[in-house]
Amino acid sequence: WPRTSGRVDGALTIGDVDVRELVREHGTPLYVLDEHDVRSRMRDYATAFAGSEVHYAGKAFLCKEVVRWLRDEGLGLDVASGGELAVALSVGFPPERITLHGNNKSVAELTRALEAGIGHIVVDSYEEIARLGFLADRHGKRPKVMVRVTTGVEAHTHEFIATAHDDQKFGLSLSSGAAAEAVRRILALPSLELVGLHSHIGSQIVDTAGFEVAARRLATLLVQIKAEHDVLLPELDLGGGYGIAYIEGDEAPDIKQIADSLREIVAKVCTDAGLPVPRLTVEPGRTIVGPGGITLYEVGTVKDVEGLRTYVSVDGGMSDNLRTALYGADYTAVLASRESSAEPMLSRVVGKHCESGDIVVRDCFLPADLAPGDLIAVAATGAYCRSMAHNYNYLPKPAVVAVADGEARVIVRGETEDDLLRGQL
Ligand code: LLP
Repeated sequence: WPRTSGRVDGALTIGDVDVRELVREHGTPLYVLDEHDVRSRMRDYATAFAGSEVHYAGKAFLCKEVVRWLRDEGLGLDVASGGELAVALSVGFPPERITLHGNNKSVAELTRALEAGIGHIVVDSYEEIARLGFLADRHGKRPKVMVRVTTGVEAHTHEFIATAHDDQKFGLSLSSGAAAEAVRRILALPSLELVGLHSHIGSQIVDTAGFEVAARRLATLLVQIKAEHDVLLPELDLGGGYGIAYIEGDEAPDIKQIADSLREIVAKVCTDAGLPVPRLTVEPGRTIVGPGGITLYEVGTVKDVEGLRTYVSVDGGMSDNLRTALYGADYTAVLASRESSAEPMLSRVVGKHCESGDIVVRDCFLPADLAPGDLIAVAATGAYCRSMAHNYNYLPKPAVVAVADGEARVIVRGETEDDLLRGQL
């Protein structure tokens, strides 16, 4: 639950705002983001990684207001598309603190990045090296690039979000020599400035050993590049992927410990080789915005399926939270509009979409007196829920409201029926 959440008068509060008031004003479903929670996590990172760079991974949740918070708190930003870049530039985020990622960036996206003068472009294929080299030359630019290295680490997470084993689409393999070949190709192009190596092993990872193995392999490659080319790369980007707690009993790694161990590993490999320690960057997304966000729903029906469980239907579903359907993700749900002393009943919170996989929370206990009109809050939905929302069955995407110190502010307007019909001929 968000750092400022509590209960007043039986009802859940966040940022000293009663969720019943939020719903009266903005309706349901509603994403609520605790501004103090998110900003304090940004600061926690800046402190833990002092001397390194922290680039928030915008894919977790990006909007103009979050970009302003990042700017205030002195973080950098990762973008994975021209659209994410446009959000950042629209509020004047300093381009030199932006990194562009992606395994298939378009010519238009690369050109825009060059024109804006963004800080780094992480290259992901031989074709992209040639394409970017050509474009940079044509535009008279010399962008700083990094090579995305596939380090061969098997991250313990869902298959769809593990990215460092060889058999997936991202990066250039360390073991096959593709990463070393990419380095050779970049160094041969005068229009590209190779400044470092990048690794992202996956997401929602709680066992920190994989991050350490990847950091060691990346630092070792840096040493090899110095030996082979006499080029000293000044930077290593170690990606993001640190997990958060979704249900009671979930472990979440300690950020300070991760920071200390990553720094120590890289420093040791480099100093043992007689090289200076490169500047480190990390790219957390989920750990910054995930815990501070909740989703509020109104209960519509409560259906007891004999002897099995109770199906609680809410007014959103897989269109505002795809993670349960896509990854089998776990969430925590509670009755938010009042307190109840009724017996707990095994419940499944489901949405209103036309498929049985439309599940928001697979298993949770909700009070047996739950009734239509009650509000349900689902915890830790700040990351990868609004950003992965869609319009299946023509459901409009819900608004995002930021709360702090008893005040609520819409930071992303909810979609209307007009929005849904716009663009149709
Ligand atoms: N850096 C790169 C290059 C990435 O690809 C990602 C996430 C991150 C950083 C941030 O990872 P985080 O700290 O947020 O775990 N939709 C999935 C997660 C996909 C993550 C993709 N890349 C989910 O809902 O779990």
